[in-house]
Amino acid sequence: MKKILLVFGTRPEAIKMAPLVKEFEKHLSEFERVVCVTGQHREMLDQVLRIFDIKPDHDLNIMTPGQDLYDVTVKVLLGMRDVLKKVSPDVVLVHGDTTTSTAAALAAFYQRIPVGHVEAGLRTHDIYSPWPEEMNRQITGRIAAFNFSPTQLSRRNLLAEGVPEDRIFVTGNTVIDALHLVTERIKENPEFVGIAERKLIEAGYDPARAASGRRLVLITGHRRENFGEGFLNICKAIKDLNMKYPEVDFVYPMHLNPNVRKPIAEVFGDSRRPASNMFFIEPLEYLEFVYLMEKSFIVLTDSGGIQEEAPGLGKPVLVMRDTTERPEAVEAGTVKLVGADYNKILDEVSRLLDDPEEYRKMSGAVNPYGDGNACSRIVSALSL
Ligand code: UD1
Ligand code: UDP
Repeated sequence: MKKILLVFGTRPEAIKMAPLVKEFEKHLSEFERVVCVTGQHREMLDQVLRIFDIKPDHDLNIMTPGQDLYDVTVKVLLGMRDVLKKVSPDVVLVHGDTTTSTAAALAAFYQRIPVGHVEAGLRTHDIYSPWPEEMNRQITGRIAAFNFSPTQLSRRNLLAEGVPEDRIFVTGNTVIDALHLVTERIKENPEFVGIAERKLIEAGYDPARAASGRRLVLITGHRRENFGEGFLNICKAIKDLNMKYPEVDFVYPMHLNPNVRKPIAEVFGDSRRPASNMFFIEPLEYLEFVYLMEKSFIVLTDSGGIQEEAPGLGKPVLVMRDTTERPEAVEAGTVKLVGADYNKILDEVSRLLDDPEEYRKMSGAVNPYGDGNACSRIVSALSL
């Protein structure tokens, strides 16, 4: 029996690894599955563990407020040394481009344990954008023995770097599996809709406003390269849009990183309630967030995962970054890069709100990221 150790630590990794944890539960005669969380995120990770009902076997619990890249790297590397010795897995699975995934991959390499990289081969080819994620995924890619690429494009990126063809498996992105799990759960338990609505009201935004026809701009932001000046530009643009369109609601579930919250307080004041159509709320559980994405008119974000989820729901996505490692939806026309640029954000959001033809062009549902069966393909590849 093969022993597989799945390692993750932040909200997006947890969302995208959760369906894989569940998939291994269907193959217990073939695989022993062990889950280790690093706790690079605490509250935002625990939200995901709760919703997918995952109880980790190991928890490094490393998060400290205001941690930097050195803190995370060193603590994960040292923590994983001991977990790897104790578990002695046949394969370690890591996800994407966080510092958890790269430090865990390196820790496994130091014990000569093969690494499987989930969401492999995404590239911008600019090591400072996104920073440090582009370098993180390149390093993990060099270590990985198994590369699970979401699309043909990510496979081609790896081939161009000399990764042997038989080490790459095109699986789709497990985020679509996660989305399916959540939407199925809502279908099977219609009372979840009521629960989600109640939780949103508790969080400070009443979704009845969207149901009554008010359009909703959903906002998230957290990229390190936007800290400081970039976030101030973003906040100023949101504030002016908020004044320009009183008939539109702007909802911003704020990341817990203090570097994200400081410019919000600077631009909007400590009460963060400059107008009755601006809603700053705490990070949402995945189910509530998906519910809100479905209700939204436009998504304005610098997130990676949301660029993969929202196009499938037919929502135009304006990405507050200069580059993207996810060009598939840009090519399909539903995602557009606007940078952390005051004028571009103002112009592009205004265009979508004012011009129905422009909106129609960007809102056709496309889903280049998979069919929801990525996890079963990953498990099959590991069975070989
Ligand atoms: C991390 C990842 C990034 C990923 C993002 C997803 C790295 C270098 N960065 O960035 O790739 O896109 O997560 O959200 O791996 N905090 C809390 N509670 C939480 C989570 C964060 O209080 O549950 C606060 C803490 O003060 C923490 C800080 O946010 O020190 C920064 O967290 P960290 O994981 O270092 O960076 P992120 O910006 O979240
Ligand atoms: N998300 C969530 N609650 C929120 C905001 C986002 O559950 O309040 C989900 C979102 O659906 C996506 C993931 O978190 O799956 C994206 O996380 P984030 O933007 O923090 O990280 P990235 O994808 O940029 O690495």
